[in-house]
Amino acid sequence: MIRFLVFGDLHLEDCTDGEDRLETILNHAKEEQVDFIVSLGDLCFPTERYAHVVEKINGCGIPVHHTIGNHDVQEWEIGHSLRFLGKEKPYEAFEVGEYRFIILDTCYWQSEAGEFHFPNKQRIPSRYPLVPREQLEWLGKQLADGKETVIFSHMSLVNPFARRGIANKEALQQALAGKNVRLCMNGHDHGSDLKWVGNVPYYTVSSASQFCWWDAKGERVENLFYKDPLHVIVELEKDEIRIKGMESDFAGLRPEDVGIPDYRWNGVDVHPCAMSCVLKRPE
Ligand SMILES: [Fe+2]
Ligand SMILES: [Fe+2]
Repeated sequence: MIRFLVFGDLHLEDCTDGEDRLETILNHAKEEQVDFIVSLGDLCFPTERYAHVVEKINGCGIPVHHTIGNHDVQEWEIGHSLRFLGKEKPYEAFEVGEYRFIILDTCYWQSEAGEFHFPNKQRIPSRYPLVPREQLEWLGKQLADGKETVIFSHMSLVNPFARRGIANKEALQQALAGKNVRLCMNGHDHGSDLKWVGNVPYYTVSSASQFCWWDAKGERVENLFYKDPLHVIVELEKDEIRIKGMESDFAGLRPEDVGIPDYRWNGVDVHPCAMSCVLKRPE
C-alpha cells in the first residue's frame, strides 16, 4: 500500500496563521508516516518573505512534490516560481512502488497566437486555464504502458463552472481514455467535490486556509477561513483507494453570512471539511 498526504491552496499571503497551518499538516504527515506529500499549488507568493517556508516544507524529511497554481505565477514567470519551489519542471512524473504519479501544470492560456504559460500580464482575451498540446502529448506517452497512475493538477480537469476547470476537458479525456488512471486530484476550487467520468474518479481537495467570496458587483470581497488546515491522506491499494479527510468549521464568517445558504461556490461544496470516501475499483 502507498500512502500520501495531499493539501493545497494554503495562500500564506492571505492568512495570519499560515505557518501554524503548515506545521499541523507536516506533523500529520510525519505521524502517519506517509510515503510523500503533494502540494496542489497556490502555496504562497514566490518572494523572499516566504523563502523560509519553502525551505521548511522541502526539508521536512518526507519527499514533497509541488504543483504550480495560478497564484504561484500570478505576477512571476514560471522559471522564477520553479526556482523558488526548488522544482525542476512545471510538469513531471515520478514512481513509487508499482505506481506512477503525474503532476500536471494547468496554468496556461490560449489566444489566436498560441498557448502560453501564466501570467497573461497584458490581459489578452484568452481561453484558460488549460493543459497545452505539448503536455497532452507527453501525458499520452506516459500513460501508454498501462501502469497504474494517479494524476495531480491545480485546476480541476472536470469542473464545468466557468473558468474553474480546464477549458480543454475533451482533449484531456481523450488522453486518459482506456488508460490505467486510478485517480485524479486537484485543488484551486477551495471546496470539495467528487465526480466519476468513465472509470476515473476526480477528487477536489478543499483549501488548507479559506475560500474567497465576492459579491456580484465585485465591491465586497471576503475570505471565509476554515478553522483547520484541510487536507487528506490517501491510501492506494489494488482494489480500492481510501481518502481520509477531516471535519472542521469556519473560523469567522460563514457561507450563510454572505448569502450562500446551499454552500455551493464555483461548482464545489464549501462545507468546512475535506471529504472522506472509499473509491472501489470499477468492475
Ligand atoms: Fe487557490
Ligand atoms: Fe488557484
